[in-house]
Amino acid sequence: MGLNAEGEYGGPMSGGPTLAGQGATDYERYLNVATLLSAKKPKDKLAHRDEHLFQVVHQAAELWFEQIRFDIEETDRLIANGNASDATRLVRRMVEVVRLLTESVNILTTMNVWDYHDIRLALGKGSGQESPGFNGILREAPKLERTYLDLLQARGVTLYDVCTGRGAHAELLALGDALVDFDMRFHLWRQNHLAFVKRMIGPGQRSLKGYGVDALEKHILGQFFYLELLAVRDEMTLKAGTSPPGKPPEATRTQPHPDTLPNRK
Ligand code: HEM
Repeated sequence: MGLNAEGEYGGPMSGGPTLAGQGATDYERYLNVATLLSAKKPKDKLAHRDEHLFQVVHQAAELWFEQIRFDIEETDRLIANGNASDATRLVRRMVEVVRLLTESVNILTTMNVWDYHDIRLALGKGSGQESPGFNGILREAPKLERTYLDLLQARGVTLYDVCTGRGAHAELLALGDALVDFDMRFHLWRQNHLAFVKRMIGPGQRSLKGYGVDALEKHILGQFFYLELLAVRDEMTLKAGTSPPGKPPEATRTQPHPDTLPNRK
């Protein structure tokens, strides 16, 4: 296969589209490109040229959030069926998606901050805290820890044994560590987004929902999904005797989801 005399790709796959749908090629039909592109504002309705980028980053994020939710469902099923190695592969995928999402927010640092306010005026009271994909993850991700702990119980091992047994429970250890990595990455997304929000609107402003950026900061501080998986680290450090004695200050303790941010849908 290669370019033919007319400069088009030839070979057995050439010819018109074979799939049903809108678009001149199977590529466009398979991916529903027309529908995807129709989701953004028309050029003449943009509040600012960079609103295009602002919408693309948010719309792409909704697709990726949906992918994570899709994989959470399957991961839960795999763990419940005792398939730790396939579950680990999916959790590692979720980690990579969140890493990508963190970078995607950073693309918005190429906007001029003053120009962003033209866009902000067009948002109504719209806020990222209403993101159905993000809120779906907040609701659904915590259950993976319970399913994982049930699997450990069914195998007759404790979390502490898995974490300190080195190679003895390698598959279970890899899955537990992948879950913690996902939790860390998700937390880092929130921290990165918070720093970015301060960069864009300043640390002393109110969000479009009416509360201060500092409320978002307090809210996400120490919030993690998998508290038992984190707590076992405390147990291990205590056992190893590598920390000075005494309790940490309240502010450094972890707290569970679900969210307590005002107005979250
Ligand atoms: C100029 C860019 C952005 C600004 C100024 C901004 C601002 C904010 C602010 C002020 C909040 C606090 C809640 C509220 O709005 O009422 C928030 C929350 C949120 N935003 Fe953004 N944001 C930006 C980009 C993004 C992007 C690209 C995403 C990706 C989907 C996003 C997703 C979210 C989410 C999920 C929350 C809830 C955060 C949490 O609970 O940790 N934001 N954003």
